[in-house]
Amino acid sequence: TRILFATSEVYPLVKTGGLADVSASLPEALCKLGYDCQILLPGYPAALKAARGAGSRRKTRFRYGQYDVALWQTRLLGTAVSLWLVDCPALFDRPGDSPYQNDDGEDWWDNAHRFHLFGRIGAMMALGQLGLSWQPDIVHCNDWQAGLIPVFLENAQHPPKSVFTIHNLAYQGLFSHETFRALSLPDFLWRMELLEFHGQLSFIKGGLVFSDAITTVSPGYAEEIQTPWFGYGLDGLLRHRSRHLHGILNGIDTRAWDPEQDRWLDFHYGPGHLKNKEQCKARLAQELKLEASGAPLFGFVGRLVEQKGLDWLLAVTVPLLERGCQFAILGSGQSHYQVRLQELARAWPGQLSLTLGYNEGLAHRITAGADLFLMPSRFEPCGLNQMYSLRYGTVPVVHGVGGLNDTVFDPSEVTADQANGFVFREPTPDALFQAVERALQTLGTRKTWRRLQENGMSADYSWKQRARDYATLYQNLLTGNGRIHD
Ligand code: ADP
Ligand code: GLC
Repeated sequence: TRILFATSEVYPLVKTGGLADVSASLPEALCKLGYDCQILLPGYPAALKAARGAGSRRKTRFRYGQYDVALWQTRLLGTAVSLWLVDCPALFDRPGDSPYQNDDGEDWWDNAHRFHLFGRIGAMMALGQLGLSWQPDIVHCNDWQAGLIPVFLENAQHPPKSVFTIHNLAYQGLFSHETFRALSLPDFLWRMELLEFHGQLSFIKGGLVFSDAITTVSPGYAEEIQTPWFGYGLDGLLRHRSRHLHGILNGIDTRAWDPEQDRWLDFHYGPGHLKNKEQCKARLAQELKLEASGAPLFGFVGRLVEQKGLDWLLAVTVPLLERGCQFAILGSGQSHYQVRLQELARAWPGQLSLTLGYNEGLAHRITAGADLFLMPSRFEPCGLNQMYSLRYGTVPVVHGVGGLNDTVFDPSEVTADQANGFVFREPTPDALFQAVERALQTLGTRKTWRRLQENGMSADYSWKQRARDYATLYQNLLTGNGRIHD
């Protein structure tokens, strides 16, 4: 079975969040299961450069409307996975690291044009219209950037089956009616049952309305997005399609995120032998100039945006600092959060360390060195960091939503052999604070704490089973039975 995996990010070529991790590790896991899964990615400069370094071949070159387009084929670094790049310099040859924004953090003015073209080329490839020797049975589209592909497959003769995965419903790809017209999309699509959304063009609706199956990245989020609170106005549509909507939990790259052999750590440890975790903490404290006080150390790694619960985090930080707790925070994002965190770092030297920017190695060292990992997200489709921290014996404190609720289990709600972290349910800073208090109390009880750590460390977060769930979905689509799990 051949699968075209269309995505706007792939680690390590281009990444703004978990989509990039999943777009690298899921196709690889599918290939290991015997699927021929090939990735389609816009030809950003960094991706084309890496492709040239790794050996790539131009498979076709043509004109599409006003654009010169070429398709390059290469391999994803260190894997057997085939990667196709849509090379269109007019749209994708842009400076900066972000696939969507300029260096001032503003969206590129022509994002609709960029991902419209990406969708067009994805559909043409899927329909065998580019004269390539390879054609997929399934097109797997991810997030709004790939949302138009299922639209363009709609009236084709023998279209492949399409799957659309929601990694984050909050990002919908909304553009004006003027843009809709500028893209020359057929007029009939401008209907609220199709691409129109409150007077705007919605790319994500392309995926939600036209794909054969919809998935999202945890069972919990699959339920939540069918409610008004998490549905961002799309809950009605998702309820309407609920028979075709499946929640499949993300896996993690268990080679890159393995405390036994993590290349970013000087000391290694694992289930049953946690002694070196202390060394990791001491080394991290040294690196970040935190006092060696033996105080509880909280870690946070992530985008500094409202989704990640930064307000709640900021609300509990000072009371915890006053008690002597320490923080290792790594992230980048909205400037008002950055400014507030910078103030705290200045006011509490030796206790709160802030690193702004993206730093792969430090993310690993915080995950290993911290005692507790904070993820007070307002909503979280899946979340990868809580799984990383569980695997590293760093006990997570999370808001019980989406994938966090599916992976973190609180001792007050489950048996002692299932508990692995702390969960708060009320969406308030008080609830977060109480969960942290309970965690700190438990940290004082060595045996109970060790049990939590071991439970987290010994669970399976790999793609092995989770990729099989996608495989089952693909097979069901191909045999005409669109459902899984029922
Ligand atoms: P999201 O996709 O919503 O940002 P996820 O938890 O799914 O959240 O994935 C985030 C990914 O990005 C993780 O691999 C995390 O370690 C990584 N990450 C986020 N911010 C940083 C940062 N500043 N430095 C290093 N890695 C980061
Ligand atoms: C999104 C979500 C995150 C999820 C990731 C990968 O960025 O915010 O929760 O883990 O996609 O699916």
